[in-house]
Amino acid sequence: MVGAGVMGRGIAYVSLVAGAETRLIDLDAEQLESAVHRIHADLAVGVDRGKVDAEVARRAYDDLATSTDLAAGCDGADVVIEAVAERIDVKREVLATAERHASAEAVLATNTSSMSITEIIAALDDPSRGVGMHFFNPVPKMKLVELVRGLQTSPATMDRAEATAQAMGKQTVRVEDVPGFATSRINALIGNEAMHMLDEGVASAEDIDTAIKLGLNHPMGPLEMGDLVGWDTRLEILTYLESTLGERFRPTNLHRRMVAAGRLGRKSGEGIYRYDDA
Ligand SMILES: NC(=O)c1ccc[n+]([C@@H]2O[C@H](COP(=O)([O-])OP(=O)(O)OC[C@H]3O[C@@H](n4cnc5c(N)ncnc54)[C@H](O)[C@@H]3O)[C@@H](O)[C@H]2O)c1
Repeated sequence: MVGAGVMGRGIAYVSLVAGAETRLIDLDAEQLESAVHRIHADLAVGVDRGKVDAEVARRAYDDLATSTDLAAGCDGADVVIEAVAERIDVKREVLATAERHASAEAVLATNTSSMSITEIIAALDDPSRGVGMHFFNPVPKMKLVELVRGLQTSPATMDRAEATAQAMGKQTVRVEDVPGFATSRINALIGNEAMHMLDEGVASAEDIDTAIKLGLNHPMGPLEMGDLVGWDTRLEILTYLESTLGERFRPTNLHRRMVAAGRLGRKSGEGIYRYDDA
């Protein structure tokens, strides 16, 4: 698992609970330390709530390893999933390095929310082993993995990615490689419209979120959702979708200013709302 941020630590958690030896890799040692701390805490909560067997949790502690060295961390891996920042150049480089060190048969997956799988896996010597595995936040709770087929992805790789997601207890859908796939395209658009509404003073953030939850029966409001996703990640997604799908995805100035100010959402302790537990 490359990237120990919001998504990487969640995917590592479900991988461990599925009984797989899991190596979590990040350039940032502090991020790794904090991810391990969160995974241990989540396992303890899982056991307390009767969702994770105590023996499974005990084994998970032993099965989790970390590394700040991408090459060493990927050594001999059967499945590599990257969840580093939403930047195509970084993702291409990470997967190309992973390919050189993982097993010769390894599935090489990207958790990108929006970007071209075809373009990311074109960086591989054997792009037929590349695929999109799009998990959702928070990973332990969200049931879906969107499997995205790049132009070069082989049927065998799609099947192995599906089996991997199902072993983690996830339901899958198969989608073609179009920007934003089936989910982010809609989610980013709704979130962006909510930011326009906030900027225009249509209603308070709380009232916009309440309206969408109670009036449209969404489990979360779009502004709460942006805080959960991270406004920096959302900005990268919108910028990419604007460049590929057009003007309607252009981020608001309010959104840009929030990112510039470090108001990234839950992960920084403040976004649209404030969080004391970050
Ligand atoms: N946040 C969400 O709700 C969500 C949902 C689905 C998919 N995604 C996608 O998952 C990916 C990660 O998002 P996130 O929210 O976890 O981001 P994040 O900012 O929380 O974490 C990214 C991590 O990647 C690490 N990193 C950056 N470059 C690296 C490199 N070269 N090698 C190793 N580690 C590196 C950073 O140190 C950081 O810890 C993005 O592609 C994003 O679009 C995010």
